[in-house]
Amino acid sequence: MLNIVIFGAPGAGKGTQSDNLISTYHLLHISTGDVLRDNIRRGTELGKTADAFISKGQLIPDDLMVSILASVLDEKAEEAKEGVIFDGFPRTIPQAKALKKMLAERGTGVTVVVGLEVPEDELVKRLLKRGQESGRSDDNLETIKSRLQVYHNQTAPLKDFYVAEGIYAAINGLGTIEGIFADIKKAVDAKK
Ligand code: AP5
Ligand code: MG
Repeated sequence: MLNIVIFGAPGAGKGTQSDNLISTYHLLHISTGDVLRDNIRRGTELGKTADAFISKGQLIPDDLMVSILASVLDEKAEEAKEGVIFDGFPRTIPQAKALKKMLAERGTGVTVVVGLEVPEDELVKRLLKRGQESGRSDDNLETIKSRLQVYHNQTAPLKDFYVAEGIYAAINGLGTIEGIFADIKKAVDAKK
């Protein structure tokens, strides 16, 4: 199995590059942000809980997030046979440890962590631009600032976690979408 974690700050290009990864490697794409937004749209109990966190730019609690991910993996086991792209998960050290355990229980592990590295001013620029069109409740300046703060405090430390595991591939996330994907492909092919 080829299991890819696509990692980076809000606006780094995780979703954009996941689309490229899907068409090249035929993997199941799990975006935890998309799963939560879908629940918000459908007005589920989970959606109501998630909305309160997302609109403030805060993370959904780890135990809830881990159980959501486990149920998506079980529901989509058939589609995940070749492997999975984890987009937006893990976001904390406890989530990374839980993912390791979950995959080990399924006889597999994370193959490579693609870390999209993008300067903060560019992140803000991209998200504000998308905010004009997307209707995403968290694409406004105040929430963007809090998402970036949360990223620095809770998510960025995962880089060292995965560097220590020997599977972190740093990718310069500035440039054209195609150019960045060429670098991602090289990094993935080197690890698979
Ligand atoms: P999530 O949906 O994961 O959002 P995010 O991490 O804030 O990141 P984005 O989706 O905004 O950015 P992206 O990196 O995917 O970039 P994209 O390709 O879209 O999470 C949302 C919320 O859900 C969280 O804040 C949290 O509340 C909750 N949540 C989700 N997962 C969770 C978890 N595991 N635990 C707890 N809570 C969780 O690109 C951004 C824009 O830039 C686009 O408009 C794109 O067209 C453009 N762009 C992309 N690449 C380039 C490029 N090379 N040059 C110029 N523009 C580009
Ligand atoms: Mg995204």
